[in-house]
Amino acid sequence: MSRRVVIVTGASRGIGAATARWLGRAGASVVVVARTEEALRQVARDVERLGGRALTVAGDVSDATFCRRIVEQALDAFGRLDALVNNAAVLEPIARVAEADVAAWRYAVEVNLVAPFVLSREALPALRKARGRLINISSGAAHHPIAAWSAYCATKAGLHLFTQVVALEEPDVVAVSVHPGVVDTEMQALIRRQGEGHMAPEQVARFRRLKERGELVSPELSGRSVAWLALHAPASMSGRFVAFDDADVIGPAKRAFGEPLAALS
Ligand SMILES: NC(=O)c1ccc[n+]([C@@H]2O[C@H](COP(=O)([O-])OP(=O)(O)OC[C@H]3O[C@@H](n4cnc5c(N)ncnc54)[C@H](OP(=O)(O)O)[C@@H]3O)[C@@H](O)[C@H]2O)c1
Repeated sequence: MSRRVVIVTGASRGIGAATARWLGRAGASVVVVARTEEALRQVARDVERLGGRALTVAGDVSDATFCRRIVEQALDAFGRLDALVNNAAVLEPIARVAEADVAAWRYAVEVNLVAPFVLSREALPALRKARGRLINISSGAAHHPIAAWSAYCATKAGLHLFTQVVALEEPDVVAVSVHPGVVDTEMQALIRRQGEGHMAPEQVARFRRLKERGELVSPELSGRSVAWLALHAPASMSGRFVAFDDADVIGPAKRAFGEPLAALS
């Protein structure tokens, strides 16, 4: 049986890197995408060590030409595409609307919303053929406003509506939005470093507390659910917003992949 082929954006660290490793462990061919080439190469080596194949495509997804090249290179290298995981995102600008930088806001829209659209548009013919999956990493911030996160909240809400439209339009593709949890990644470190003075003090305190108490979700646990969705999300899930620990996801993901630490080390 041919290997499944999955594109994961934002795969140089955090949830995307963990997702790519799980996919490698499942024997998939993984196209890893991000701006930082050296980190991507390390993730690609991990994917291969765990039993998968990897293709590194380095660049900025805010560039539509680059997005088209990602899909082209995936198809050239592996001849098919089974899933696209739109995971790359930026949180900045962390600033109240009255102070937010327009260029930074526009960049967040390009990375968090336009890139998933362009990548989906390019990938859909191959995804239809494979009866594949489109996994868009959204956030709790899609449903809950957080002061100083206007670009992030708006783009993550927009991404979920985008998922729902694809689910309506594409009966042969399973399109799912995911809340990956509050995860111990660089994005959380950025909130702790830069949130103060912009976000509500109780929000910054809440994120700091989660870190101090060891209550942030590990990227490996979150990425296991994302990888499972990319390979196995059922048609009945299309158009849904699912959390990484939704009962329909975390149980099957654990059965399919096993416990994080033993499996990926
Ligand atoms: N961490 C959380 O608590 C949390 C909660 C809810 C939702 N999420 C969502 O989960 C996803 C992953 O987040 P994370 O926490 O793992 O974040 P992270 O550690 O900041 O990683 C973000 C990834 O996206 C890549 N990226 C950013 N801008 C890019 C661009 N312009 N072009 C290409 N790649 C780009 C980064 O790589 P380079 O810098 O190398 O390009 C990195 O690999 C995001 O969609 C985020 O919104 C996270």
